[in-house]
Formats: sequence, C-alpha cells, structure tokens
Amino acid sequence: MTHEWSADLIAPDEDFAGAPLLRKEFALDQGHGPVVGATLFVTAHGIVEPTINGTPVSDEVLTPGWTSYEWRLRYRSYDVTPLVSDTSVLGLALGNGWFRGRLGWSGKSGFYGAELAGLAELHVEFEDGHRQLVGTDATWQAGPSATLVNDLYDGQTIDARLESSDWTRPGAALEGWSGVHAVAHDGGRLEPYLGPPVRRQEVVAPVKVWTSPAGATLVDFGQNLVGWLRFSVQGEAGSEITVRHAEVLERDELGTRPLRTAEATDRFILSGGVDTFEPTKTFHGFRYAEVSGWPGQLTEDSIEAVVVHSELERTGTFESSDELLNQLHRNVVWGLKGNFLDVPTDCPQRDERLGWTGDIAAFAPTAAYLYDVSGFLSNWLVDVDLEQSHADGMVPFVVPDVLKYMEIPADFPDPDSTAVWSDAAAWVPWALWTAYGDKAALERQYPAMTAHARRVEGLLSDNDLWDKGFQFGDWLDPQAPPDEPFKAKADNGVVATACYYRTLRQVAATAEILGIPDDAGYFSALAERVRSAFQKHYVTEGGRVLSDCATVYALAIEFGLLDEADRQGAGDRLAELVRDNGFRISTGFAGTPFVTDALTSTGHLNDAYQLLLERECPSWLYPVTMGATTVWERWDSMLPDGTINPGEMTSFNHYALGAVADWMHRTIAGIAPLAPGYDRVLIAPRPGGGLTWAKGALDTRHGTIASDWSLDDHGTLSLRMTVPQGVEATVRLPDGTERVVAGAGDHQFTASS
Ligand code: BGC
Repeated sequence: MTHEWSADLIAPDEDFAGAPLLRKEFALDQGHGPVVGATLFVTAHGIVEPTINGTPVSDEVLTPGWTSYEWRLRYRSYDVTPLVSDTSVLGLALGNGWFRGRLGWSGKSGFYGAELAGLAELHVEFEDGHRQLVGTDATWQAGPSATLVNDLYDGQTIDARLESSDWTRPGAALEGWSGVHAVAHDGGRLEPYLGPPVRRQEVVAPVKVWTSPAGATLVDFGQNLVGWLRFSVQGEAGSEITVRHAEVLERDELGTRPLRTAEATDRFILSGGVDTFEPTKTFHGFRYAEVSGWPGQLTEDSIEAVVVHSELERTGTFESSDELLNQLHRNVVWGLKGNFLDVPTDCPQRDERLGWTGDIAAFAPTAAYLYDVSGFLSNWLVDVDLEQSHADGMVPFVVPDVLKYMEIPADFPDPDSTAVWSDAAAWVPWALWTAYGDKAALERQYPAMTAHARRVEGLLSDNDLWDKGFQFGDWLDPQAPPDEPFKAKADNGVVATACYYRTLRQVAATAEILGIPDDAGYFSALAERVRSAFQKHYVTEGGRVLSDCATVYALAIEFGLLDEADRQGAGDRLAELVRDNGFRISTGFAGTPFVTDALTSTGHLNDAYQLLLERECPSWLYPVTMGATTVWERWDSMLPDGTINPGEMTSFNHYALGAVADWMHRTIAGIAPLAPGYDRVLIAPRPGGGLTWAKGALDTRHGTIASDWSLDDHGTLSLRMTVPQGVEATVRLPDGTERVVAGAGDHQFTASS
C-alpha cells in the first residue's frame, strides 16, 4: 500500500565521513493506553540501517537498494511494535551506497546527488485509537559513526575505538554532533518496495588459511561469493587489520588486476577490547581474502564470509550422473546469487557491477527456473521502462542508467538501441510470462516492449534489415581478441535483424494475449517483412546464413527465421561447424543461449551433448576443470596456464554464458513449459552424452513438477515424474511415443532410449 509521507528528507549539516548517524529522541504520548501497533517507513539518499533504541529494526542490508533514483525511490515499512518504549531513540545509520558512491569505471561518484539524507516516519497507534507520528524533521541530530570510509567498490574502514551505543540511548551526552537540514526532493518518486529486500543469506567458512610465497596471509573460502567478512577479534588498540579481496589467485598471490580500480579493501582499527567487525556498507565479489595485521595466528575458525543478495525463493533444481555438469550447474546458481543483489548485474566485483541489459536478456529464462525472480526482475523492469520513457524509447546499455552521466570516451559508442541488450525490454518480460504466466505483469511491460520495437523500426535500413549503427553483436566470441570483444565472427546485421525478429514476434504475441488486435496485426506484419528481408539478404541455397558461423545458425534456427528446408540445411551446417571446431565453443553472448537448442531441434542432439560436455578451452566445462565455482565472463577468463586473461575486462562471476542451464533443465531433465506458468508442461528428457541418470524439479504456482530418469545397462529408460493438480503434462519418451497425463501425482514410464 502506498504511504502518504509528511516527513522531511533530512541531511546532516556535516558530512561525517559519508557515514552519518541521524537520531531523534522522543517520548510516547501518555494517557492513551498501551501501544497496539507501530510501523516504521524508511528510505534514504544512500543506504540506511534503521534502529530503535539500538536494536536494528530488520536484518535487511543495503536498503533501499538501487533504482533509477531520478524517478523512483523505494521505501520499506517494518512492524516495530515490540521495539518502542516510553522514551525511545529512533536512529538511522547512513552510507554512500549507490546513491553517492562510485559507479562505473570512470572513477566518479555522486551521480545522483552530493548529500546523503534519510527519510523516516514512525507511526504509533495506541489502544484508544490515538496516533502519534515521529518523522524526520529539523529537530533531529546528526553525528559521526565508527565508519571512516565506505564505498561499494572500494570497501569500508571501521574504527572500533569510535564505536559507541550512546547515541541510541535517551538522554545521551553527544559530543561533536550537529543539526540537520531538510533537502528538497520530489515526493512523487517515493514508492513501496516492489521486489525483495537484500539480506545476509548464508555463511561460508574458510577452507584454508596459509602464507603465500610473498608472505601474505591468504584465506580461501572455497567458493566465489558476494558479500563480506565477519569476525570478532581482540588486539592492540589502534592497530589495523586490512582485508583485500579477490576472485582468483595468480602466481600464488591475490589476483586483483580484474578488479580494475575497485580497491575492494576493508580496514578495521582495533579498540583493544573484543571487537566484532562486519562491513555492511560495501560488498565484494571474492573467493580469496588477504588479511594483514591480524593479532596472532589467523585460523579457519577466526573469520567467516557472509553471503549477501536479494531474498529469493529457490524453485528449480537439476542433477545428473556427471559431476562436472553438476558443478557447472552449481556455478550457474552461484552466478545468480552473486549478481542478483537488488539489480541484475554483469558482475559483482570490479568497478562496474551495472545492470547490463544484454546479460539478463540472455540469462532470464535460466534465472526464472532456478529461483522465483518475478518480483526481483519486475522491479528492475520498472526502471527499464522509466529509463526508456526518458530516452525516446531507447533501452540503455545499463539500467539504472548511470552511463548517461559519465563522460563517454571517444572510442565508446553513442548510446542507441542495440540488439540483445535493448531486446531485454521484450525478452525479460517474455521469460517471466513463460515461467510465471502473470498476465498483469506482461501488461505492465507492454508499453516498454512496443516502445523498443517502434524505436528499432526507425533504425532499420530501407531494405528492412537492422544493419546500421553500433552493435555489441555476438559479444565475447571466443575468437575475438581479448581487448576487442566486439570483433565476432557473426555479422552484426544478421545478429541484430534476427534478434529484432524475435522481439517483434514476442511483441505481436503479447498484443494478441492482451487483446490488442491492431498492434498484433501491425507487429506480425512487420515481423514478416523483417523475416523476408533476412532470408533475401542473408540466406542462400540450402540454408547458408551470412558469415557462416555457429551463432548465426543458432539464432536463425531458434528464432524461426528460416523456412523448413533451409532450416534443416542450417542445422546440418551448424552441426558441421561445431564438429569441425572439435566441439570447442565458438559463440558469444548472442549465440550461446541458443546453440544447444538449435542443434537439438534440427536432429543433432549428440552434437549438442558433445558441445556441452567438452572440457578443452573454450567450453562450458573448461572453467569447471580449472576449479571455477561461478560462471566466468570469458570462456577463458583464466588461461590454461593459470594466468588471468590479459583483457582488461575479465570477471570470474558473470552469468550470461550460464544460460545453457536453461537447455539442461528442458532437454536433459526434460521439464519445459508448454503454456505460460507451466499450466501445461512437456516432460521430454533426451538422454545422451553418456549420462546414466538426471533429474530436475521445479516449484510452479501449481505445485512441484519433477522429472527423474535413469538408464539401465540395456539402454532402457525409466522415467518417474510428478505433476501437480492443475497441470497437464505431455510426456514424450525418447522412442517417440507421446501421451498426455492429466492426473496429479507420480507416474512411471519405461522406453528404449
Ligand atoms: C560487461 C558486460 C556487458 C558488456 C557490454 C561489459 O563491460 O561486463 O557483461 O554486457 O560490457 O559491452
């Protein structure tokens, strides 16, 4: 429910090192009987941790997250009834967060404003119906905290000598505190949270602590994760513990080069007593930490890593007889965890961590199986819509779009719609529709979908191809030079025109679903024109597609750009290319999500399996053989000799190339939606690749759908499946037999494979 605000947004008169505390002491109104309810509404310019009498009002962190603050600032509300007492102190601890901290690689900060500020209203309701309101206003006080430095990229410095809970107590004598002032702002931007808050999700213990050749104390958490370290320690007052973070080791030392300018360094100054440190105003993407200044011996029991991301419910699982494949799948899951921290980001560690649209365009179907991401992505799509509506329909490269505030280097393209990236405006809502069947959500995105489709229509050449202007294209084609990731084999026009066709079909289908026949007709006709142009200009005899590489075939086949005869020819050519390349992967961001599907749907299942199960570089399993615990940005982020790829853009936690997990769910486990929201499901496992068993389970809005198969020594498949009430399952067995199962419960089938 939307809250009507009356409080002022207040900023401290002094900055207090970017981590000010705001406080208000108040007494409960008397004579109205006991308190029957108290609700706190809160948000900030920056990030905020609210307390009442020193008790945190929630376990959420990094609130209010990151939205396109120019037009949208979310607030949280908390039931704080048990926390208020006759005399109370309402406290807000602020930090820079995304609002004022560094964003992007330009080294700049403060994109949304120069001042941190807090906005809070506490509504107390008494037994007799009396209401009391305590809101942020000019009577509040501001003071310093123990945090001396805080930045999401660079890290946090906490001086435990300055730690004090006095400020949370009524009547405290506060030295060095200042007043506050109201900050003018547009209250129309305020809205309740859509999507989940960010919380601590799990704790990971070190697997190893050792001394590096250079004498550094290193800690391995065994998992590339996102969050921070937490520990309690006692040491000499004023001494400092420094923690640096990195995803990988290089030459046995911390490999920090991929972080670029992100310092990812936390500093903790000891008080002399027992100090507990937890830097909640930053986050790092890391598996390894280098700890210096630890008093005495650092051991595995001394510290722990806290994993932080948006609160999401796990819905989908996958497992098979191949342990490397299972590790790849775990890596995909960890890639999601690390990059679903309020905004779907490209990476969580270097000086970037931006909502790159193309990455989620590729990954959304996978994400929507693994977790319930409806709220999380719907929230982000509101910002896509807002950015777009302030940019004439253009979906920016990143959302929230901070690139628009950065000085664009001469060699950086002028922003305009780009295939895959801008197509997120259609592909992400479509992925959500497919997974969850929420028509209202699709309807909300419809204006953004059409605005994108119409803008690109204006960018087409006279011959109906999208072949002009900047494109990221098949970004990170493994054969592109490390520092020229846009130099793909696939022709940009082919990729862009194919992607546009897919978008048009989704937009036309959406218009159909929403009952807008004029639009449905318009976009279908445009789609047909684009398809004809694609065929005329890009396709030759037997289904050859211009630039003759795996990506162009994958897109042409899977997006439906080819007529039947050409389609088979294209599939055969794709299989030939894949084999000729020794089953090493040859696709980038555009082609990778579709290449295994294109092989499968043109009768080359074995080639799809061989491509998936290849271990030599570049391949999906190569990083797994190198010990990866997340999906890498590049096929070879780490080179076979253990050195880090020389490209300046080398992350070890990028989810885009993990989009193949979607194929694993649908084709190996065999669970594919036949109707939006799995009202109808296809259970059609396709054994192959030497797997002897595989299984998947998915919690849908109807209940759990599960598929579990194994092969015996004679190649006979036993399939056990579960369908919930309300779901009609079509079961297709490897021998081609098909039947419809409508009754809820468990079912068993056998067939030769
Ligand atoms: C990001 C990508 C993104 C790309 C597009 C990179 O820096 O990390 O994942 O999609 O830029 O240019």
